[in-house]
Amino acid sequence: MVQFDDNPARKNIVELRNIKQTYDGGQNWIIENLDLIIEDKPNQGQFVVILGMSGSGKSTLLRYIAGLQEPSSGLVKLNDRPLGDDNRASMVFQQYSSLPWMTVLENVALALQYKGISRKEREAKAMEIIKTMGLEGHENKYAQYPTLSGGQLQRVAIGRSLLANSNILLMDEPFGALDIKTRLHMQDLLTSLWRKFQSTIIFVTHDIAEAVYLADDIYILRANPGQVAKHIHVDLPLERDRNTKRDPRFIELVHEVEDAMIELTEVVRSE
Ligand SMILES: Nc1ncnc2c1ncn2[C@@H]1O[C@H](COP(=O)(O)OP(=O)(O)OP(=O)(O)O)[C@@H](O)[C@H]1O
Ligand SMILES: [Mg+2]
Repeated sequence: MVQFDDNPARKNIVELRNIKQTYDGGQNWIIENLDLIIEDKPNQGQFVVILGMSGSGKSTLLRYIAGLQEPSSGLVKLNDRPLGDDNRASMVFQQYSSLPWMTVLENVALALQYKGISRKEREAKAMEIIKTMGLEGHENKYAQYPTLSGGQLQRVAIGRSLLANSNILLMDEPFGALDIKTRLHMQDLLTSLWRKFQSTIIFVTHDIAEAVYLADDIYILRANPGQVAKHIHVDLPLERDRNTKRDPRFIELVHEVEDAMIELTEVVRSE
C-alpha cells in the first residue's frame, strides 16, 4: 500500500483517509483502508491519473471528491476543509454530461447559475471559456449529438466544469468514446488547459499510454478491497507532444505501469 507522509505543514488539495465502503452493512468491503493524499501545488497545478482494474473503486473515489457520495467511514477533505456546497469538485463523465435541450452557451453558463452572478456576466464568462475550448461559432447550437460531435460535446462538459471550479477537475474515462484522432487532440487540449488554469486534474482511464502521456503522478488501485496500491511518478519533461511517445523513458514507464497492474491482479487471484 502507498504510505503518505503526515507532514502538518503540507497543504493538501485532496485528502482521503482510511476510507471504507460497504453496500451490505459490512459483509463485503468494496474499499478498505484507502488513503489518497494529493498535495496542493498552487500556481502550478498537476495531473494525477488513477488506474486500476474494473471494480477497484475508481469512479467511487471520484464521486467522494465531487460530493456525490459519502463513504461508509473515513475522512474526505478538499483544500484542507471538509466537503460542502462551496467546496466540491466538478466531474466530467465518460458519457456526455451536457443537457441536450440547452445550447452550448447555456450549458457552460449553467456552472455559474446559483452563484449570484447576472445572466449577462455569466454568458460573458461562458463565452470566454467557449473560445478557450475551440467551440466559438457553436455557442447557439443545442448540446446534443449529432448536432455536435462526441469530442465537441466533451469540450462543452469540460468547459462547464472549468467554469464551475477550475481548481480541481475530475474526469472519469472522459475520452473512452472518442475516435483516436479526436482523443489525441483532446489529450493535448487538456494538457494546455491545466497549465493555463493551474488546475489539479484527477483523471481515470484504462489506457496506460494515455495515463503516462498525461500524468505527473499515477496511482494504481488494487481491487477486493479497493486500495491505493502503487504510486508511479512520471519523470518525463513537462512539455509533451507526439515525440514524447517515442522517448525510451516513456516506453519504459508504460511497461512499468503494465507490469504493476498485472502483478496486482495476480495478487488478488492467488488469495
Ligand atoms: N450502489 C452500489 N451497490 C453495490 N455495489 C456497488 C454500488 N456502487 C458501486 N458498487 C460496487 O463498487 C465497486 C467499485 O465500483 P466503481 O464503479 O467505483 O469501480 P471502477 O473502478 O470505477 O470500475 P470501472 O473501471 O469498471 O469503471 C464495484 O464492485 C461495484 O460493483
Ligand atoms: Mg468507473
